[in-house]
Amino acid sequence: MGGTVLVTGGAGYVGAHGCKALSQAGYLPVVYDNFVHGHEEAVRWGPLERGDTADRARLDEVFERHRPVAVMHFAAFTAVGESVADPGKYYRNNVGGTLALLETMAAHKVRRFVFSSTAATYGLPDQVPITEDQPTRPINPYGHSKQMVEQMLLDFEAAHGISSAMMRYFNAAGASPDGDIGEDHDPETHLIPLALDAVTGRRPALTLFGDDYPTPDGTCVRDYIHVGDLADAHVLALDYLAAGGATRAFNLGTGTGVSVREILESVRRVTGHEVPHVVGPRRAGDPPVLVADPSRARAELGWSPRLSDIDTIVATAWAWHQRRGNG
Ligand code: UFG
Repeated sequence: MGGTVLVTGGAGYVGAHGCKALSQAGYLPVVYDNFVHGHEEAVRWGPLERGDTADRARLDEVFERHRPVAVMHFAAFTAVGESVADPGKYYRNNVGGTLALLETMAAHKVRRFVFSSTAATYGLPDQVPITEDQPTRPINPYGHSKQMVEQMLLDFEAAHGISSAMMRYFNAAGASPDGDIGEDHDPETHLIPLALDAVTGRRPALTLFGDDYPTPDGTCVRDYIHVGDLADAHVLALDYLAAGGATRAFNLGTGTGVSVREILESVRRVTGHEVPHVVGPRRAGDPPVLVADPSRARAELGWSPRLSDIDTIVATAWAWHQRRGNG
């Protein structure tokens, strides 16, 4: 296909990988980012427009200038703990900002939308692996904010003909294999970067949040998916929408669960060092097991992860960490 795609949050972790994948597939990614969390050096594959998703006038200007064929919407706040402490921040940005974006799309007749959703929409799942048909019952404001947007997308499809791919990420991880982009959150809350920082001594020992879960080794099980595989799925979603695909949710995970202890084992294999850690209490709101059933994305998008075995995820993250550590 090809054409211009507006990428909100394109200066962020997953968004920058999305831009790179778009560029490699022959699209021009135009980044729209307010740089609250984004990194200017991650904007490399197309023009940059500064702006906030809640700023209708600015969005109008950018849509007028670039005339995108589609929008990929990565811009959002994503810290679960912060969303509990400050829900207004999450509803204002994640829901209010997306509403302004959708209204701008309707006004400019842009009718393809790829949305960064999350496994946090499922809350505590009834069954694992999780299929997209399971009920969504989020257990924190972050998950609620994403669920609300999913509802808006169904309504905007009915009223304005905007079709959306709702990409429910499991645990995004890893860095670009060629080392040009990686994960750099502030504050960092994610397991793999914290484990690598503990290995290098950049941070103190990792606290392992609970080893008394009803799982094989007592630690939480997650479905880690390489950020490059996530990016590929987004490009495939554009093809799906261009072919007339209707609004639909897609789980993006591998279908294989990995425990916290297995991550620490992988970090040891990859780096050659044990991860200094202490076992602490459970973190509030952590479900014991979250694993995707990714069959729908495989069947309907033709997607299959290529970088998501756990040692590849950790090795790419480690290469990025070392590179970043050296400036
Ligand atoms: N963990 C630790 N110690 C740490 C950090 C994490 O033991 O210092 C554990 C957590 O308890 C969890 C696992 O490592 O069991 C993974 O934790 P992350 O914080 O890396 O990821 P989460 O599974 O909590 O979060 C991810 C996304 C969220 C999303 C959530 C639910 O980052 O955006 O999945 O889908 F909301």
